[in-house]
Amino acid sequence: MTTNRTTVRVQDADGVDLALPPIGFGTYQLNGRAGAQTITEAIDTGYRLIDTAFNYENEGAVGRSVARAAVPRDQLLISSKLPGRHHAYDQARSTIEESLYRTGLDRLDMYLIHWPNPKQDRYVEAWRALIDARDAGLIRWIGVSNFLPEHLDRLAAETGELPVVNQIEMHPHFPQLDALAYHRAHGIATEAWSPLGRGHGILDDPAVVEIARTRGVGPGSVVLAWHRALGAIPLPKASSHKRQLENLAAVELDLDAAEVDAITALGRPDGRLAGQDPATYEEF
Ligand SMILES: NC(=O)c1ccc[n+]([C@@H]2O[C@H](COP(=O)([O-])OP(=O)(O)OC[C@H]3O[C@@H](n4cnc5c(N)ncnc54)[C@H](OP(=O)(O)O)[C@@H]3O)[C@@H](O)[C@H]2O)c1
Repeated sequence: MTTNRTTVRVQDADGVDLALPPIGFGTYQLNGRAGAQTITEAIDTGYRLIDTAFNYENEGAVGRSVARAAVPRDQLLISSKLPGRHHAYDQARSTIEESLYRTGLDRLDMYLIHWPNPKQDRYVEAWRALIDARDAGLIRWIGVSNFLPEHLDRLAAETGELPVVNQIEMHPHFPQLDALAYHRAHGIATEAWSPLGRGHGILDDPAVVEIARTRGVGPGSVVLAWHRALGAIPLPKASSHKRQLENLAAVELDLDAAEVDAITALGRPDGRLAGQDPATYEEF
């Protein structure tokens, strides 16, 4: 896996290069007409990777935004997720089809298993459904979200195929350095959810505010540049054009090692926003 200003590159199971933008756009809670308007604005502002999920109930708004934006479809990466209640093979296959119908797209660029739900123990079955949907041409690349190394090891052992992406909780209070190292060693790209810590606390932290002041940028740019420096692709959600621009400006900001370390030092073992440890937490 290599990272630069414009792309993060990983290879799929056939050795085909997948070039991901350095920052994506989160769409949780962007629904209906207003949501579609915000997502269209984000695309027109410069975001190319759009993150949605079956459970966000806004795949329709995402599809409408793609149709309305002034950017050709082939320059966009639309990514959705399979909910925990549909891990059974047949349900997973029809849920993927339903996601396609909702977006109105012929093919989704990425599809992820939203949570492993290990107590249910059906994520390998769901993974086989994603592999088959990809091979049938419904999805371009397949990935997972909230998978721990033990879950990834099992996918590799039982199906011979690892995801191209694992989307995990990551922000300065929960830097996830071990997961990043595991992903790097296995050619998996890391996407960071709630990369700004949902806007609470992290953006006001004195360490972040001081770097923003000396660099003459907003705190959102600083935190997202930290993600980039660690090799992750952050997926910030922002409703206003001003914040969308501030966040995208992180692409142009290269922090030095001392700045990166100062932000990583804000991490703490219990730094998850809502205690959602994928070893035990389940979401349906
Ligand atoms: N895979 C998963 O299990 C999972 C879980 C959670 C989230 N996600 C994905 O990750 C995306 C991002 O996570 P998130 O929405 O939870 O949190 P986030 O992106 O860390 O934070 C979003 C919050 O920060 C505010 N904000 C954005 N930019 C800002 C800036 N420059 N300055 C100040 N405040 C700013 C936003 O406000 P406004 O909107 O009012 O501008 C919003 O309230 C989601 O939308 C979703 O796509 C995935």
